[in-house]
Amino acid sequence: SNDVESDLKHVLFSKEQIQQRVNELAAEIDADYQGREILLVGVLKGAVMVMADLARALHSHITMDWMAVSSYGSGTQSSGVVRILKDLETDLMGKHVLIAEDIIDSGLTLSWLKANLLSRGPASVEICTLLRKPDAAKVDIDVKYVGFNIPNEFVVGYGLDFAEKYRNLDFIGTLAPHVYE
Ligand code: PRP
Ligand code: MN
Ligand code: MG
Repeated sequence: SNDVESDLKHVLFSKEQIQQRVNELAAEIDADYQGREILLVGVLKGAVMVMADLARALHSHITMDWMAVSSYGSGTQSSGVVRILKDLETDLMGKHVLIAEDIIDSGLTLSWLKANLLSRGPASVEICTLLRKPDAAKVDIDVKYVGFNIPNEFVVGYGLDFAEKYRNLDFIGTLAPHVYE
């Protein structure tokens, strides 16, 4: 078959499991912010799905903005220096910023991004990520909301890509070897 589903080896989280966990995170966030307005910052492109679902599950007043960043430097070794491809349009002064991410792998992207956003004078900056790989961490970041901790395996779907594909899957899974061999 030519369907994207036939490229998957194993389903890690079904559509229903993701929706339930996102709803739980939204309830936690609503309780923590107690009616304060939240600026959700989505990190393009992986965070598009979690942003869309989290935003709709929240009852707090929110606004949304987007950033696109790219790891700087060469080869497979990320330097942790990040280049801004698309910046926010919102002035962060006094805002409660909540970064939405699909996954924290080495942590280098978010560690840099959190420091960058903190330098813009917000009232607070917190992070909500659907997935985190504790065994891949190269830096320690304080992440307030984590959907699922996962093993150090390559995963796709629900925003996560392999060579830009598979972002449109409504579940999260691992790729079959024939895809990358
Ligand atoms: C992926 C993922 C996170 C980041 C995590 O984005 O969406 O943003 O890598 O990696 P790290 O913790 O090791 O820094 P990617 O750079 O692939 O861009 P994309 O979101 O457009 O796929
Ligand atoms: Mn990303
Ligand atoms: Mg990617």
